[in-house]
Amino acid sequence: AESGRLKGKRVLVTAGGTMERLDPVRFLTNDSSGKMGFAIAEAAMRMGADVTLVAGRTTEQPPAGVRVIHVASAADMLEAVMKDFDEMDIVVKSAAVADYRPVIVHEQKMKKTGERLVLELERTTDILATLGERKTRQFLVGFAAETQQVAHYAMDKLRRKNCDLIVANDVSQEGVGFNGDTNAVEVYGPDGLIVSLPLMSKREMASRLMELIAVRLAAAGGN
Ligand code: PMT
Repeated sequence: AESGRLKGKRVLVTAGGTMERLDPVRFLTNDSSGKMGFAIAEAAMRMGADVTLVAGRTTEQPPAGVRVIHVASAADMLEAVMKDFDEMDIVVKSAAVADYRPVIVHEQKMKKTGERLVLELERTTDILATLGERKTRQFLVGFAAETQQVAHYAMDKLRRKNCDLIVANDVSQEGVGFNGDTNAVEVYGPDGLIVSLPLMSKREMASRLMELIAVRLAAAGGN
């Protein structure tokens, strides 16, 4: 990565999975390890940016030199991201945010009965779509984790959530997406597919993505 290329730029990255509580000892979550988002935060930092990382559940150690804000639920992540959004130049949303959360969060540990248990879930706020509505000059990058019709759903997310780029990973492929140290992606812009990045380490992928983001931001007049 060309160092210093993002000097003076403020970059916000989200990473990891959110945790949606059922009771004091149980929660719903997903397979995100945070590796992709942490690698992006580190790549942005190496390019000279001032980086804030909003992290959900993760197995990763925070990269030195990056400001880390730990959050649990989708609601917590929304609050943390909105707090800093207006000051940001680039926002990369690699977190796997829960789409649903339990309607009732029990204060005491739930007791089992002999009956079946039905959990009632409600939608969480879509953080990326909220940012898409609010953005002024921010360069907004979303991710799309898909298992089918990747191009179609990626372009749909880009338009609905008003993103400048969507990084789509086909998480049904071996070595791609959740957990693991590698990824393969297709990057889409408003005019369609920009580039396919083949299977490589998440660290290398992060550098390639941040390079592309820096080029597009400069072309959009943000540099
Ligand atoms: O963390 P790793 O183990 O390294 O795995 C990386 C990854 C697979 C998590 C990452 O590459 C990835 O694809 N992240 C996005 C996962 C996801 O939730 O995708 P989605 O297609 O459901 O959501 C689309 C976009 O909307 C994402 O940018 C997501 O952050 C955002 N979103 C979704 C729901 C919600 N309530 N708020 C959001 O902001």
